[in-house]
Formats: sequence, C-alpha cells, structure tokens
Amino acid sequence: MRYHLTTFGCQMNAHDSERMKGVLEDIGYRPAAERDDADLIVFNTCTIRGSADERFLGNLGEAKRVKGERPDTVVAIGGCWAQAQKDAVFEQFPFVDIAFGPGEVSRLGELVARERLDALGAFSFDGEFSGSLPARRERAHQAWVQISVGCNCVCAYCIVPTVRGRERSRPPADIVGEVERLAADGVREVTLLGQNVNSYGRDLRADGVRTSFGEILRAVSAVRGIARVRYTSPHPKDMKEDVVAAMADCPEVCRHLHLPAQSGSTRILKAMRRTYSRERYLDLVARLRDALPDLSLTTDLIVGFPGETDEDFAETLSLVDACEYDGAYTFIYSERPGTEAAERLVDDVPDAVKRERIAALVDRVQDMGRRRAQRFVGADHEVLVEGPSRTAPDRIRGRLSQNIAVNFRGTAPPGALVDVHIDGATSMTLSGTQSEVAVLA
Ligand code: 5AD
Ligand code: SF4
Repeated sequence: MRYHLTTFGCQMNAHDSERMKGVLEDIGYRPAAERDDADLIVFNTCTIRGSADERFLGNLGEAKRVKGERPDTVVAIGGCWAQAQKDAVFEQFPFVDIAFGPGEVSRLGELVARERLDALGAFSFDGEFSGSLPARRERAHQAWVQISVGCNCVCAYCIVPTVRGRERSRPPADIVGEVERLAADGVREVTLLGQNVNSYGRDLRADGVRTSFGEILRAVSAVRGIARVRYTSPHPKDMKEDVVAAMADCPEVCRHLHLPAQSGSTRILKAMRRTYSRERYLDLVARLRDALPDLSLTTDLIVGFPGETDEDFAETLSLVDACEYDGAYTFIYSERPGTEAAERLVDDVPDAVKRERIAALVDRVQDMGRRRAQRFVGADHEVLVEGPSRTAPDRIRGRLSQNIAVNFRGTAPPGALVDVHIDGATSMTLSGTQSEVAVLA
C-alpha cells in the first residue's frame, strides 16, 4: 500500500506531517512519488489566510480526478482547514473519505485501517501529542521538537486558536528525553515548536509541575551533542526576563528571534487584541538588543487590518526602521470566518490600498534586510552545514546562528560546524569561503 502526502502551512504542520508519515509507515504504507500511484492520498492543510485555502483546494481537485479514475483510492484531509470545515467537508466534497484535525494525528493509523470508510471525521483535541509519535525525519542533522500545542490567545484576526484548540504543554521530561534520542541519532540542531512557545508550562502548574520556557531552553541546550537550539514562535506579551536570560546564558540558543509584531500602531494592536503597545514592543526589543547584541530579529506584519489608516500604516513602516529587522513576513489581512474581526469589524481597507501598502512595506523590509546583512561581511562566522547548495553545485549551504543562509566554497560535511569567511551579502543570503580549520564539535 502506498501513500502520497502534501503539506501546506507552517513548521508545526511540516512537523505533524513527519509524524503522519511515521504513523503510516509503521502500519506498512510506503511513499508514492505521484498521487496517481497512491492508494491513500493525504493532505495536511492550512487555513491561516484565504490564499492558503485556495492553494489547497487547487490540489484537492487532482485528488478528485484520481478518485474518479480509481475509486478505491482513499482521500484523507488533515490539519487546520479540515478542522475549520469539519461540519461541511463531507457534504462539500463527497469524494473525501477521512477528515481529521491537528489534534488527531495520532489516530491516522486507526482511521485508515477501518474496513469500511463512511465519511470518517475526527476532530477532538484530547489525543496524544503528535510530537510523541513515530517520525520520518527529512533532515539528518536538524529536527523539530514539539513543546506545546494549541493557543490561548484571542488575536482578533486569527483562526489558529479555533483550529488548534487550547494550549497544552508537553511534560519537560518528554521533551528532554526526545532531544536526547535525537542527539544520539546525530541531530545537531533542534527547533522547539509551539503556537506560543513562551507561555509554555502554565497549564502544567495545575498538575504540580513547575517549569517555564526559560528552563526548557536551558535543559535542551545542556543535552550533549546539541549544538544549536532554535524556537518558534514566541508572543511578545510572554517574552519575560527568564527567556532573555536563558538565551544570554546558553551559547547553544541561536542568536535569532522571530518576534511577530503584526502592526506598529498601538491603536491597531489594541483592535487586534495583541495586548501590547508599540512602546512596550520597542522596550522589549531594546532589552533584547541590550542582552544579545548579535541578535538577528525577524517578524510578521499584517497590512490592511480593519480600520487601518495611512497614519497607522506609517507606524508599521517606521517600526521596521526602529527595530532594524533582518527580515519580515508581510501579509495582507484576510478575513477568516469565525474570528472576532470577521464577526465584529468591517474589512474596510480597499484592495488597492492594501496592495499599495504591502508593496511599500516589502520594499522597506528588503532595504533593511540588505543593510543588516552587510554586518557579517569581512569576518569569520560559524556555520552549521546543511548540504550542497541548491543553486550552485560546487558550493555548500549552511546557516548562521542568526538564521541567515550562507553559500560557501569548502569541504565540510553536513552536520559540521565550520568557520566561514563571509565576503558577500544579498538581503537574505551570504557568500563566503570556509576558513582553514574545520571544527567538528
Ligand atoms: N490575515 C493575514 N495574516 C494573518 N496572520 C494570521 N492570521 C492572519 C489573517 N487573518 C499572519 C500573522 C501571523 C502569521 C503566521 O500569519 O502575521 O503571525
Ligand atoms: Fe500552521 Fe496556522 Fe496554517 Fe495551521 S492554520 S498550518 S497552525 S499556519
């Protein structure tokens, strides 16, 4: 039996997909190169913006065609779109056999093993952490580690709390145990994943477990063989001193922080229910810069939120200058049915204005990124080797602690940490040459 899996969305979904593959391969499925060759077609979906829905629905049409030609093919839809559409999916798409939410990855094996598939849905959030399931990892030296699932925030624009449920933290011993196993398996870099990583552990207090995200950072950094620790995403409101201190104390924790701001206007931040002001965000960035002078900072920004004026948008532009972001993901506001913004606010910024704003913002972000990247040029920096360059076969690809990609001339194998002399920079990629001494820590 063969499966074909397509993943949409964020790193959380990419990680869930590794687990889906693990679960399927455990019960005897093997990967198929094409949907046409698959007995089971799986989609792991995203619904964060309208464009994510559209991308997936384009692909779903192909599954319908395959099913028309080979009616025995099983079509399964998992992830956030499936959860959001749980009441409509089978009616709207009668050729779909199985739909399951992000909380039900652990039941995938059981769902596909059913004898008769009669439009089977699974949408609860009380199952096993997908992070504890068997995995088929794509990368030898890097791994994702789930530390929590769900989100208790109430951001007005965001569908995630609806589709991923309340926040639940994995016990610290499970996390550290998994990182130890990964390190023994040759992993050098772990990325800790959660919808809001730095509120980690609050729900565990009810069970008498006192822990925090800062403690997790320290414990994971101390695992032998782990050279780098990343995490995503933190919420600015929960970025407390203990996390900053853990970053400063642990050289393994990478000098990169993805700190979603969403807007530079306090008025809009309030309407978004982000619970911080522009000033508080800037204060936090100042504290981070103080404690971690070599930090690279990236963010998410939304333009065209309901009620956003030219003045509000100008504050988002000026936030890019004030924070000196190394990069930013920029999004046009997309109304998501069921969110507070969709129910209570009018999507009133005209499309043309939204497009103008995003173009201006992308320009500003790219200018800043190019300028910031120059700071690495002319010196040696430590690079974790990932593999051959995708664009130039005679080059090696790796990444700085600051999460900036480097293409360089050298001989170091994947998984090695080497010093690279940086001699050029575009906005998001550096180029260079490996220095004489390769450090195989
Ligand atoms: N419209 C546009 N962007 C959104 N994001 C989340 N919800 C929406 C929405 N409805 C963006 C935020 C978030 C990132 C993952 O996606 O910037 O941080
Ligand atoms: Fe990830 Fe959010 Fe998309 Fe779900 S909806 S896959 S949590 S980005």
